[in-house]
Amino acid sequence: MATTLAVQDLEKTYGSGEDAVRAVRHVSFETAPGEFVALVGPSGSGKTTLLAMIGGLLAPTGGRIVVNGSEVGGAAKRDLAKYRREMVGFVFQANNLLPFLTARENLLVPAALGSLDKRDANARAGRLLEELGLEKRRNALATQLSGGERQRVAIARALMNDPRLVLVDEPTASLDSARGRQVVESLIREVRARDVLGIMVTHDMAMAELADRVLEMHDGEIREHRAGKLAT
Ligand SMILES: Nc1ncnc2c1ncn2[C@@H]1O[C@H](COP(=O)(O)OP(=O)(O)O)[C@@H](O)[C@H]1O
Ligand SMILES: [Mg+2]
Repeated sequence: MATTLAVQDLEKTYGSGEDAVRAVRHVSFETAPGEFVALVGPSGSGKTTLLAMIGGLLAPTGGRIVVNGSEVGGAAKRDLAKYRREMVGFVFQANNLLPFLTARENLLVPAALGSLDKRDANARAGRLLEELGLEKRRNALATQLSGGERQRVAIARALMNDPRLVLVDEPTASLDSARGRQVVESLIREVRARDVLGIMVTHDMAMAELADRVLEMHDGEIREHRAGKLAT
């Protein structure tokens, strides 16, 4: 089943009084099933904050996030951890691979925390590494991988728990444009193949254009919605 997301009047204010920063203000949008959305905007416009709230990493100060009909964070804290573990795959800018583990071992870490049994996890890791063109690099340590390879490992790892939402923050920031494009194209391909919802923060318009839809943030608000060029 394709994932639906509705963000309703979402707010996040950091701090209070004079030091308060209204990082996200009255943000509302809905996504179409299976959509790949790019979130663009200048540094400090609230992109990471919005993504972290959608991923259940950060509590909103107002508004709601509804995924497949249930409100995120509406229930107990335990449910939030379960939501993150079972529903969400994250890819961060600084891919956060464990440097002393191989590409394959990095994929097996989240599986070890989840419910997947060992044999299924091994098979799944093998398949994902192959899909992302990393089969030859599977036994290389994370430190021996190139920047693009590391990001592809991070994408594979985010898909290990078979998430319904894949949230990606600046995946190409450390890559040149050709490699960045390869990474984003693999990401979009994998997301489409699984019918999951993808949201990617980027400040690279060339990458954003590969998405189905582009949301542009300024000062904590979404200012513009437009169609991307529809990656095929
Ligand atoms: N933990 C925090 N405490 C206080 N202010 C924060 C925190 N994280 C982000 N901010 C502020 O919130 C605003 C939005 O930040 P962020 O969501 O990181 O934007 P972006 O990802 O678009 O660069 C910025 O003004 C930033 O300084
Ligand atoms: Mg950011």
